[in-house]
Amino acid sequence: MADFLDINKTSPEDLRAIIDTAQAMKIARQGAKRGTFDAEQPLSDHMVALIFEKPSTRTRVSFDVGVRQMGGQTMTLSGAELQLGHGETIADTARVLSRYVDLIMIRTFDESVLLELSEYAEVPVINGLTDRTHPCQIMADVMTYEEHRGPIAGKKVVWSGDGNNVCASFLHAAGRFGFDFTFTGPHQFDPEDAFVGEARRAGSKVTIERDPVKAVEDADLIVTDTWVSMHDSQSTKERRHNTLRPYQVNDALMAHAKPDALFMHCLPAHREDEVTSSVMDGPNSVIWDEAENRLHAQKAIMRWCLGV
Ligand code: CP
Ligand code: NVA
Repeated sequence: MADFLDINKTSPEDLRAIIDTAQAMKIARQGAKRGTFDAEQPLSDHMVALIFEKPSTRTRVSFDVGVRQMGGQTMTLSGAELQLGHGETIADTARVLSRYVDLIMIRTFDESVLLELSEYAEVPVINGLTDRTHPCQIMADVMTYEEHRGPIAGKKVVWSGDGNNVCASFLHAAGRFGFDFTFTGPHQFDPEDAFVGEARRAGSKVTIERDPVKAVEDADLIVTDTWVSMHDSQSTKERRHNTLRPYQVNDALMAHAKPDALFMHCLPAHREDEVTSSVMDGPNSVIWDEAENRLHAQKAIMRWCLGV
């Protein structure tokens, strides 16, 4: 049994095995009716707790559906429903939940909550997003890239905009899967040095380029995300939008990348802010496959965590 806390905490071999399992499970389901169970039921007799301290559409629904397809059951809990925010320590919550459930997925604010939960839980814990990282998303993104274009190793991925939690997990993945990563955005939105340094030490060519047009030259994949994440104060919205506006992914920017460059966004997107509808709905966009692959990738992550 193992936790899935971050991409840099999982070995490259295990990450590759997870992607392979996800792809195989996706293919095995092809032709299956929506709502049907998988032929294999590796999670039968398993109860999975899904804890959300922030809103979610994709993570919530894809984990829930994934568990059910594999024969398990879920309970979805909001932070407010638990005693988490009302004085009971995370450690004590972890000990108690471990007596009831077989796996815990948590979306929270501060990374310390995830880490403390995993330290004290006796069952595997999965990171469903913190203020710092979003590893399940990037497993789906790597899977999606490879489905469309083959191995991601050696490719050039460009992140345009805010160097946020999703960007951080991309940097983790750059080191683990061996692709080049260029960040383009204003300096105050740079990804943390720790993420950049680690990716470089792992052998990835990481570039910080302020000029978005230069950044996307020869890009194989262009990615962006919201300019205001759930952990960002709404009072900073106007300033963030004004500063990040030059990094919008639009047709003009896409035209400077390779002609077959893919576009990804973890969603939810803010159309005409970080990305135009013309790009989101255009021929290079794979955002719906990306969203679907959350389901398949997370099913494989859960199997890996539980060893089933
Ligand atoms: N991409 C993603 O994690 O979406 P949700 O916030 O809807 O779960
Ligand atoms: N960066 C975004 C991702 C949402 C899936 C956020 O944290 O709000």
